[in-house]
Amino acid sequence: MCKKKTPHQSCVLVTGGAGFIGSHTVVDLLESGYRVIIVDDLFNSSEKVLDRIRQIVGDQAYGRLSFYRADVNDRAALEAVFDDNPIDRVIHFAGYKAVGESVQKPIEYYANNLGSTLTLVDVMREHGCKSIIFSSSATVYGDPDTLPLTEESPKKFCTNPYGWTKWMIEQILMDVAKADAAWDVVLLRYFNPISAHPSGLIGEDPKGIPNNLVPYVAQVAVGKRDAIHVFGDDYDTPDGTGVRDYIHVMDLARGHVAALEWMDGRTGCEIFNLGTGTGSSVIDVIRAFSAACGRDLPYVIEPRRAGDVTANYADCSKAREQMGWVAARTIDDMCRDSWRWQSHNPNGYDG
Ligand code: UFG
Repeated sequence: MCKKKTPHQSCVLVTGGAGFIGSHTVVDLLESGYRVIIVDDLFNSSEKVLDRIRQIVGDQAYGRLSFYRADVNDRAALEAVFDDNPIDRVIHFAGYKAVGESVQKPIEYYANNLGSTLTLVDVMREHGCKSIIFSSSATVYGDPDTLPLTEESPKKFCTNPYGWTKWMIEQILMDVAKADAAWDVVLLRYFNPISAHPSGLIGEDPKGIPNNLVPYVAQVAVGKRDAIHVFGDDYDTPDGTGVRDYIHVMDLARGHVAALEWMDGRTGCEIFNLGTGTGSSVIDVIRAFSAACGRDLPYVIEPRRAGDVTANYADCSKAREQMGWVAARTIDDMCRDSWRWQSHNPNGYDG
């Protein structure tokens, strides 16, 4: 039932579709012709994102979107969504995602992220929908021995419960695909998603003090915070600061649409890295953002942050060769779009 349909015939359920990566992916799905169902409890997102999506895609495409305010852990609500809609495929973004918080609240993180995934796949199975893309993370590679990271690089110990939930959900979905050959599972390992839709209408809207580098830099740029804290300048990298593979969220969104098209008619479980293949240091990011916003952003050097790896970046040749997907945007593009979002929406969706 989940096979061989054009986008216009396909109905995609997007859990967490009002969130940062989810909302950008929903835009690309609607523009590609899919019918989209969002299930999101708005725990860490805003309903305002829906009107912004409408402004970007226009009324006609927006007419193919339905929104259900529901928790993926709520089995009855999820069953009603499947009963009401001819869902062909699922993209599963919903989950708690704050690394530091996960160390403080391991029970909540394991219960929510694992529980919701198990509920989801069970309800999918009941409704004969066995096609899922899971939002995984390069965090499953832990502290890498060699770079760039390929999909064959070993999974390692994670440094926090959030990372372990990604690690464990990957294992659960691999086992599901192994047990029933009708399943079609794609695990997408994101490197560091940043930036915003070029319209400046949707973007990342972290609650409280941002944990991640680029949202923090953006808040310094807009004058909400005084200076960037650079966590360590004594790493074994060209300028001593941590190196990551930052990827524009619209390139990442495209990766999901490419995966949906690639999956059509296949079964089994495949893993793809989604990154650019290029590492940028913290100082590189600060320079690029300074250029984007037109002033030198102040920073102070702090001690290393516990749990951080020195460097990671992806080998994305598998996604290029198999799905024809490549990340097109540079770190300068990413900072420019991030600045547009932040300067137009200094207080995120509450502004
Ligand atoms: N950094 C700073 N100052 C800050 C925040 C971060 O110097 O205020 C540095 C970090 O030390 C690191 C780099 O900027 O070198 C990137 O840090 P982020 O917090 O932005 O991202 P991480 O690489 O730590 O984590 C991200 C996602 C995780 C995901 C992981 C996968 O946030 O969800 O990538 O590798 F698990």
